[in-house]
Amino acid sequence: MNYPILFSPLQVGVHLLRNRVVHTATVSGYGANTKPSDRLIDYHKARAAGGTAMIVTELMPVHHTSLANPFLVSVFDENNLDPLKRWADAVEGEGCRLVGQIGHVGRQQLWNPLATPVSASARPDPLSWSVPHKMTLGEVEEMIFSFVDAAERLQRTGFSGIELHGAHGYLLTQFMSPYSNDRDDKYGGSRKGRTAFVREIISGIRERCGTEFMMGLKMPCDEGVVGGIDPDEAEELVKIFMAHGGLDYFAFSQGNFSPSLENHLPDMHFPNRPYQHLHARMRKLCGDIPVVTLGRIESAAAAERVLEEGCGDLVGFSRALVSDAAWANKVQDGEEAKIRPCIYCNFCWGEIHAGRGMTCVHNPELARPNEIGWAPPAAEAKKRIAVIGAGVAGLEAAWIAAARGHEVMLFGASPEPGGGALWESRLPGRADISKAIKFQCARAAEAGVKLHLDTRASAQQIAAFEPDSVILASGAVPTWPLTLASDANARDLKTAVLDLLNSESSQDGTAVLFDQDHSAAFYAAAELFSQRFEKTVIMTPRPTVGSKVNYISLIGVFRRLAALRVEIIPLSLPVALSESRLTYRNALNGDEDEIGNVAALAYATPRAVNDELAAELEALGLSVHAIGDCSAPRNMAAAIHEGHQAGLSC
Ligand SMILES: Cc1cc2nc3c(=O)[nH]c(=O)nc-3n(C[C@H](O)[C@H](O)[C@H](O)COP(=O)(O)O)c2cc1C
Repeated sequence: MNYPILFSPLQVGVHLLRNRVVHTATVSGYGANTKPSDRLIDYHKARAAGGTAMIVTELMPVHHTSLANPFLVSVFDENNLDPLKRWADAVEGEGCRLVGQIGHVGRQQLWNPLATPVSASARPDPLSWSVPHKMTLGEVEEMIFSFVDAAERLQRTGFSGIELHGAHGYLLTQFMSPYSNDRDDKYGGSRKGRTAFVREIISGIRERCGTEFMMGLKMPCDEGVVGGIDPDEAEELVKIFMAHGGLDYFAFSQGNFSPSLENHLPDMHFPNRPYQHLHARMRKLCGDIPVVTLGRIESAAAAERVLEEGCGDLVGFSRALVSDAAWANKVQDGEEAKIRPCIYCNFCWGEIHAGRGMTCVHNPELARPNEIGWAPPAAEAKKRIAVIGAGVAGLEAAWIAAARGHEVMLFGASPEPGGGALWESRLPGRADISKAIKFQCARAAEAGVKLHLDTRASAQQIAAFEPDSVILASGAVPTWPLTLASDANARDLKTAVLDLLNSESSQDGTAVLFDQDHSAAFYAAAELFSQRFEKTVIMTPRPTVGSKVNYISLIGVFRRLAALRVEIIPLSLPVALSESRLTYRNALNGDEDEIGNVAALAYATPRAVNDELAAELEALGLSVHAIGDCSAPRNMAAAIHEGHQAGLSC
């Protein structure tokens, strides 16, 4: 066995877990009208069938003041017992323990402006700026009862246990942290006072549910704010909870709802396993109470290593299990190469926080009923399919079509497959994107896709393959900025970046980047420019930048741009570039201004479809189906999902 610790059983409370793989709590946005939906149950059932030993649900509100969004499952509602029971049966029936994460968002009210934010004190939420109602003693007691009631309700419906969400700056953190608790009654002041709320919840649940019911606490070991729970404070809190007793496990997760929010979900710009040292420190205090270590644990080998090194007893994964439901089974069966790897883009989180159901950038089958063990269904009749364009849309269409039994030829103009995604993966901090391309290439090779790379194939060359149909995935091309004089010495961002990547040189002067793109790739390119030029300026017609970056990763974008002193000029459009002076115009009032010493001007504007082959192919009698950017220029998720659909429909 390759990973002996990872696949050894572990006793947690009264439950023997079959291995050390835990799906950490993950809001899916799949609930409906505050109830678990079939999709939510399917999502978890697939991960249970995929070998995960324990699944912690998503944050489920225990009280009506916490119902931030109706897609969250309410556990204060007796009417939800039947679907809760179906959920528990589905997961437990696969030999996996289902643990309900219960909590309250407290003062963090980003989603629902009509809900009443409540907290330990009236201090505003640092991210949403919502000012909470300071809970009275009676309201604190009522809330403790709500937690106990919720736990008992889940026990009645067949859940193995609950996890108290005491991390991420929600209500439990708000009570525990000196940053957010200024009470002078029994629930504030000293550490004992700040932990009283959580301790009384723990005691109440133990009393009501007995020792057979598993109970964990997820808490921060670093809130990431001055005056908050830092690692020293976290150690003291852990000691108090250990002395109090009643918990079956701890899970540690960083950040709160402030700019340190980005630490909840370390994205591809973070190093792997950024918090292991903190978890190792906490674990020393936890005696024989198991610790879930988590956070950007990138592989099974890394998981085994963190267990070996004593950072935890269980390894928690959220995003890796979103991208591949059968992660644990594939590792155990020696099929790691078949795992669809998480690229830590945080698209999943962005989608739920935009109020849509969770979507993975490269797992189009996510949460569909047959996700586990899904394979492209065999085609009724074998066809010859030409796919033009070896970007992520074309690659996806090609491997799916070939896996269905079609004979597929993939034509790509570049020497390597990957297209725009490959370009992006070469930018600072974006390397994980190459893992998605690698996954597609491996599937394409397995399925027998024939490659015709490094040549811009003509319509005649494609027709010579005698395809029954053609999938056109030839992407999109940059367009000149509408307001910029046509004689300006400017280049599209992609070309300008390639030049920088192919040389090591630094340059004097200012690089101006015109941003009508707003994707994460643009700001990674800005980082590259700022490494090479004296100064870098981003100009955008919008009031701010980054509108297409999910707001958790956007914090990192702004942090890095600020560290590099990249200047942002909002509401502006480039007009002319003459002798290194760039004239630009305010997009609203038309006022003009200048930037001097401009050494480079690059633009990322709305692109135009690159479908010039379509007409020629159709003239040759071929049926052509344009997908991805070549149909309408969008993002990587749209490209892959559309490629997937195209591969299934040919
Ligand atoms: C889409 C999404 C939703 C999440 N929702 C929750 C949640 O409801 N409760 C919670 O404690 N953590 C939540 N998390 C955080 C994860 O449990 C985990 O702590 C974090 O993603 C780091 O683990 P990873 O690197 O394995 O993804 C969520 C993460 C994601 C990606």
